[in-house]
Amino acid sequence: MALLRIRTYPDRVLREKARDVSNITGDLQHLIDDMVETMYAAPGVGLAAPQVGISQNLLVIDVNSREEKRHPLISLVNPVIMAAEGISEEEEGCLSLPDFKSMVERASRVFVKGFDREGKPVEIEADGLLAIALQHEIDHLRGKLILDKASPLKRSLYKKRIFKKGRAE
Ligand code: NI
Repeated sequence: MALLRIRTYPDRVLREKARDVSNITGDLQHLIDDMVETMYAAPGVGLAAPQVGISQNLLVIDVNSREEKRHPLISLVNPVIMAAEGISEEEEGCLSLPDFKSMVERASRVFVKGFDREGKPVEIEADGLLAIALQHEIDHLRGKLILDKASPLKRSLYKKRIFKKGRAE
């Protein structure tokens, strides 16, 4: 297994709409394992394939470090949100946006369908942090970042900071 390089804003791959995975291969399973290892090392509670430079509909999530309720490690191929209800607002961060945190409004419960690491269909009903993480990572697959949901002022301050840093390096 290997640690993958996490792409950070303004890397363009983060803005692409990811393609559906057409086949579960050994290479794809290897990628999933590397993404899990990279997520744990970061450390983070979720990682979507575009965040490691691969524009495919694939994500991994493990919220156990932050939530009491035990959930298994989740890897989801071609996830789709089938239903969403309620509203919750929590502070979120993102491995692709270093030093950025923002309150984000999301559905409080979601029902997600997809396929697991072996290609078996899975259905997940989630609330709490898992529901937030699922929506956050699925946003990545559509090229969306929590930066887009922040206030215009907050967004422009962060962009300024990042571009200044980019020029200094
Ligand atoms: Ni993120």
